[in-house]
Amino acid sequence: MDNNQKYKDFELKDKEASLGGGLDKLQKQHEQGKLSARERIEKLLDKGSFNELDKFVTHRCTNFGMDKTKIPGDGVVSGYGKIDGRLVYVYAYDFTVYGGSLSMANAGKIVKVQQMALKNGAPIIALNDSGGARIQEGVESLTGYANIFYQNTMASGVIPQISAILGPCAGGACYSPALTDFIFMVKDKSHMFVTGPDVVKIVTHEQVTKEELGGAQTHSSKSGVAHFMGNSEEDVLLEIRELLSFLPSNNMEDAPSSANQDDIHREDESLMSLIPDDPNMPYEIKDLIESVVDNHYFFEVASHFAKNIVVGFARLGGKSVGIVANQPNYLAGVLDIDASDKASRFIRFCDCFNIPLITFEDVPGFLPGTIQEHNGIIRHGAKIVYAYAEATVPKITLITRKAYGGAYIVMSSKQTGADINLCYPTAEIAVMGAEGAVNILYRNSDRQTKDQAISDYKENFANPYRVAELGYIDEIILPRQTRYKLIQALEMTKNKSVTNPPKKHGNIPL
Ligand code: HXC
Repeated sequence: MDNNQKYKDFELKDKEASLGGGLDKLQKQHEQGKLSARERIEKLLDKGSFNELDKFVTHRCTNFGMDKTKIPGDGVVSGYGKIDGRLVYVYAYDFTVYGGSLSMANAGKIVKVQQMALKNGAPIIALNDSGGARIQEGVESLTGYANIFYQNTMASGVIPQISAILGPCAGGACYSPALTDFIFMVKDKSHMFVTGPDVVKIVTHEQVTKEELGGAQTHSSKSGVAHFMGNSEEDVLLEIRELLSFLPSNNMEDAPSSANQDDIHREDESLMSLIPDDPNMPYEIKDLIESVVDNHYFFEVASHFAKNIVVGFARLGGKSVGIVANQPNYLAGVLDIDASDKASRFIRFCDCFNIPLITFEDVPGFLPGTIQEHNGIIRHGAKIVYAYAEATVPKITLITRKAYGGAYIVMSSKQTGADINLCYPTAEIAVMGAEGAVNILYRNSDRQTKDQAISDYKENFANPYRVAELGYIDEIILPRQTRYKLIQALEMTKNKSVTNPPKKHGNIPL
């Protein structure tokens, strides 16, 4: 065979391999409203930037006549490319090949790109659409998962790891995403469950649809497993690109900066009337966030879960920041178990990747009651204080209104290591609200005495001056000045250098 023939031969083989499980299966995939693995990668990455690796890898299973059906690539498409000109690694399960199930061979492909991503310090993105462990391979496929989970764990906190769930994800296919930093799902199209509805019915006699059990809505709003829900695969892939624009490629890099066109001195007069005169009236904290960040653009994370706390990314003076904010508009911004989980994980992510933290605080306290206590609010709430205290990135806190009790302490207070603590003149910083305090201290007193005590308490605590006298607040600012003051504090802390005591790792309450 001459070389020309060899080239042609290769091109033919390459074309065949690109078809994955074949045209029929591809058609079925499209009929279900799903893209193929290669189409997904093409949409995710910068045009023409994908380099596929291991395209001719096949499985090595001989059980159940498998040796007669070998498909090049074996159900995973993997390689590297660029997003906004920056290196990323990617792998996509190909559902047209044995339902995207995991074999020892394609686990090897995944581990190869995981190791490359770690070695070369670039994010890795997994596009999941898989029936889980390949049944025909038995323990070999389970071993494949273990290898992937191990790499996920080793890479945690070193490079950003992102998972998109674009079809069914059963069994082992759920746990690798769960070990990564962010999970994206597609509304009505993607599912995650450890066991599907059929197994649930047998074991617990529960009748449940797969949408209810593990659809995008369920995981975005109830379980908190998914951080983002897109209306389509295309939406999800674009959102992944957007998320990466806020993140450094690895933990040795600074948070990325971009050219900033938004005036850092910009003041917003409307903020002067944002906080209602009545301290029991809610207001929308996202109005404040969007007013002060560059170009009013806030990229919210987990927007449907634990809405009493808001987290997400934005830029201030061009620099990426992570925002954590109590939401007075939902359950008065109270801290509960879900809010504690959501905030702590986000704070730790930002700290891993050198992204400064901005905290907006308006919190009446931790949610009381048996449900919270019996489910461990003490253990979960402790995560927030732990996460903030161990974070060594710049930490800037702004108290807009209430900062009561333990919630005051945990929301990045001065004594837990915040660098700059600001507040508005509307701040109320105390052990609890006036009525609650007087009911305890003056339980048996008459109404007149109680009213006087409430008035005295408000005079003493429903303002920021007592705390400012003690130096626990660095500066009292007017709402209109917020943007400039935050940017100043960020610039002031940009060379912050703090290290925690040497240790193997801490023992965060889980
Ligand atoms: C081998 C599989 C497979 C698997 C699907 N297929 N899952 N092959 N191993 N795990 C094959 C099917 O036989 C079929 O082949 C093709 O993929 C498409 O599957 P369908 O069932 O036709 O598709 P659909 O109706 O869309 O249903 C998708 C599905 C279902 C929901 C994923 O296939 C399913 O329930 N699969 C099994 C899920 C599961 O229990 N996996 C094991 C989890 S245990 P043909 O040739 O007909 O096209 C696990 C252990 C690890 O993962 C735990 C670690 C912690």
